[in-house]
Order: sequence, then structure tokens, then C-alpha cells
Amino acid sequence: MRTIAVIALKGGSGKTTVATHLALAAHLRGLDVMVADVDPQHSASDALGAREESGPAVVTTTGAKLMSAQFAAVGLKKDLLIVDTAAGAVEDVGEAIVLADFSVMVVRPTLMDIAGLVRTLTLARKLGKPFTVVVNQAPVAREGLEAPVVKRALRGLEFMQAPLAPVILRGRTVYQTALERGRSVEETSDRSAAREITELWEFVAGELAKLTALEEAEAVELVDEEPAQE
Ligand SMILES: Nc1ncnc2c1ncn2[C@@H]1O[C@H](COP(=O)(O)OP(=O)(O)OP(=O)(O)O)[C@@H](O)[C@H]1O
Ligand SMILES: [Mg+2]
Repeated sequence: MRTIAVIALKGGSGKTTVATHLALAAHLRGLDVMVADVDPQHSASDALGAREESGPAVVTTTGAKLMSAQFAAVGLKKDLLIVDTAAGAVEDVGEAIVLADFSVMVVRPTLMDIAGLVRTLTLARKLGKPFTVVVNQAPVAREGLEAPVVKRALRGLEFMQAPLAPVILRGRTVYQTALERGRSVEETSDRSAAREITELWEFVAGELAKLTALEEAEAVELVDEEPAQE
């Protein structure tokens, strides 16, 4: 089982939107998914609870109990655990990063959000775990040209050497309306939003696959290094 933590210390950046969409993307591709909702607001539980179709399982928990939730998910033979964290909860975010194989930081393209990201970046770097940064709620690019706010934000992120995801999520009402019924934008007719989530899922899944390949290579090295039995 793999664990993905969706984090940001700043509120309202889109953690729950991204966490539920990644969970739904994995579910729609046949994976057995659990979402650990660490936010006392329980937004992810509410969103996925509104879903009529089959969907990811959800448990509400706390940062301190996250490891138990992870063990439970392993016991239930889940393929993937996605952790949705609360804003401002530094300790919970730390726990989530430590327990996760990969973290997704969500940031809006505003200077305040980018400045707020410094702390999260520092935390993830200190913990030495792999992560990516996803810009969310960006204005739609007109004729391929990014709005000045987005350009500025991207320059700020480059300056901070933030590892950026290859897709930017745009501000689209469908992200809100789809989740009201526990659905992914991939299940709506909005092809632009669907493409964004498909690309984000494929990128994250690719990063997890790289981790698996790395672990397998390390395991082979260990076997090769073992002294031959007499
Ligand atoms: N790409 C988007 N397009 C349009 N609306 C969005 C998008 N992403 C998030 N939103 C909206 O912005 C608001 C905040 O998003 P969300 O709840 O996902 O953020 P959050 O980081 O989980 O917030 P909190 O810190 O309160 O947990 C919600 O109303 C959500 O529907
Ligand atoms: Mg949230």
C-alpha cells in the first residue's frame, strides 16, 4: 500500500479538493482506496459521503492517530491511502509527511500563499521525503498566455526551488459542483478540468511507480551484497 499526504499550512488552498480528486482518480482506475480525513472540519468525509456510486472509503482521524489508520488500511488490504490534512496544523502535517510515501503541497498563485509555502517546504525538506507542489485555483490561461499573477507565482516557486507538478489546476466552478455529489471532475462533461485531474493523477502515480522501482533496485542490491552461504 502507498500513502499520499495532501498538505498546506495555509487554509483554503484546495487540499480537500485535490485529496478527494486523487482518491477518486485512483478509485476510477480500479484501486482500492481509503481517505484518512485528519481535518476536524471533515470536508473530505462530507464530500465523499455524498457520493451515490461506489467510491473510496473514508475514515476520520487525527494526526496523532494517523499511524493506526495507516495500519488499519494495510490490514484491509487497501492499495492506496490518501491523507487530507487541516490548515495550520503543523504537527499533523509533519506526521502526515513522515508517514506518507509522497506528499502533494497545494498552493494558490498568490504571494501570500507562496510565502506561506516556505514553512511547509522547509518541513518537507527537513524530513527528507519526496513531494511535489501543485498550483491550484489559477486563472485560465488565455490563448496559452498565463495571467501575470500566475507568472509571478511561478517565478516565486522557481526561486524557492519548489518541485512543481507538470500541471496547473485552474479555478473552475466544476471542481465545486462535482464534489457536492462526491464526484470527480473526471466524471463530468468538463473536459478541461477532467484533463487536469487525469494529468495530475498520472504524474503522482508515476512518482509512486518510481519509488517502487527504486525500492526494488535497492532490494536487489542488498541480496547481491549478502555473503554466499558456506
Ligand atoms: N480548482 C478550483 N476551482 C474552483 N474552486 C476551487 C478549486 N479548488 C478549490 N476550490 C474551492 O475553494 C474552496 C477551498 O477548497 P478546499 O476546501 O479544497 O481547500 P482546503 O485547503 O481543503 O481548505 P481548508 O484549509 O479549509 O481545509 C472550496 O470552496 C473549493 O470548492
Ligand atoms: Mg480541507
